[in-house]
Amino acid sequence: FSRADFGADFHWGTSAAAYQTEGAWQAEGKGPSIWDEFVRRRGRIKGGATADVATDFYHRWPEDLDLMRGLHIPNFRFSVAWSRVLPQGRGAANPAGLDFYDRLVDGCLERGIEPWVTLYHWDLPAALQRQGGWAHRDVVGWFTDYAQLMARRLGDRVRHWIVLNEPLAFVGVGHLLGIHAPGRRSLAAFLAATHHAALAQAEGGRALRAMLPAEAKIGTSFSGSHVQPWRPGLPRDEAAARRADAAFNRMFIEPALGLGYPVADLPVLRRLERYHRPGDDKLLPFNFDFLGVQNYTREVIGFAPYMPLVWARLVSARRRGVPITSMGWEVYPESIYHLLKKVAAYPNAPRLVVTENGAAFPDTLTPDGRVPDPARQAFLRACIGQVLRARQEGVPVDGYFVWSFTDNFEWAEGYNPRFGLVYVDYETQQRTIKDSGHWYGRLLAGEGV
Ligand code: FCB
Repeated sequence: FSRADFGADFHWGTSAAAYQTEGAWQAEGKGPSIWDEFVRRRGRIKGGATADVATDFYHRWPEDLDLMRGLHIPNFRFSVAWSRVLPQGRGAANPAGLDFYDRLVDGCLERGIEPWVTLYHWDLPAALQRQGGWAHRDVVGWFTDYAQLMARRLGDRVRHWIVLNEPLAFVGVGHLLGIHAPGRRSLAAFLAATHHAALAQAEGGRALRAMLPAEAKIGTSFSGSHVQPWRPGLPRDEAAARRADAAFNRMFIEPALGLGYPVADLPVLRRLERYHRPGDDKLLPFNFDFLGVQNYTREVIGFAPYMPLVWARLVSARRRGVPITSMGWEVYPESIYHLLKKVAAYPNAPRLVVTENGAAFPDTLTPDGRVPDPARQAFLRACIGQVLRARQEGVPVDGYFVWSFTDNFEWAEGYNPRFGLVYVDYETQQRTIKDSGHWYGRLLAGEGV
């Protein structure tokens, strides 16, 4: 295939997030976020890593944008660090933080790169966590105030907005599993945060709509995976897979589309009613202009009598003996096709954009300064082919963003999983375009691949 098969209006890009790249965690008035605090807790991050410096994007963004332009990448998705612009999460804004995003947006536009701004990619201001964070209902108002601030500041130039990045991940991994910030392991916190994130998703959308020019496009991004039963045909596994699918793929999309939470297939979600206030049902839906779909692998699910509430477990890729990435995730490019078909099947689904897709493999810089990464290149080619397949079958998907432009801080996994199209030497901060990056550049330049 070639770029032309996707049509001229297809949005090609790469994605990144503030905490994973910016560094400069205390620079020029920035307040701490829950991730700044979480990485300082013993044993939370592999190798004891922090993102205090990360890829130093805060200082090196002009160089990264130059590389991006050199690869003909026309769209760049990044997130705003809430505590950089509002050090306490609310109240007084930090002018230097707002200036930084101003310069970054202008720097994109000067290079012919369209900025896509994610408002929340997991780095809640620590000051708000002390007031309860996502488990406190007031977070909805704190978030919409912040959304309005950013819309006021960047709305004259930014045409694509993403309200939340993967609510299931920051709610579930952060509040139930305790593996991400804020490191809670509480069903009550998880349920409360679920409802408040679902409300913030829609209220954030409305706050942006009220402030932005009519041509602005407002979306939000969901994680998703094709889910299959471990032993197909075995009713216990089939039912477990349905529950897992409701959790992984439906929990946040369906309330946004006006369908409510998938309680019939995931009964534990009935307990969300405790956090409902009268009228909330009307607040959960929002007519997004696009939904961001993010996919990395598929999940194979078995019945598990020892896992209360969900009665399901992931059957790991290692156990199944299938090829894996550095994350231990199965290499399974068809997953993205199935996921796109599934989301597009909702009667009122808007258009879809793949706002993240990619893979981590162990990369090495050769003495002659190259990074050969055939596995990543093959994975990206296969996934993009699956996106084209979905599109040719009528799925309204009109964008694809590689996660990620450069290698970066991969949350609890530290710096070892490398997802970038561009290799980062963390000792010197030197950037080297990987073979997959050159390949993506050729695809975007119009060559057939
Ligand atoms: C997604 C996150 C992103 C990155 C990739 C690998 O879940 O949105 O920040 O960590 O996974």
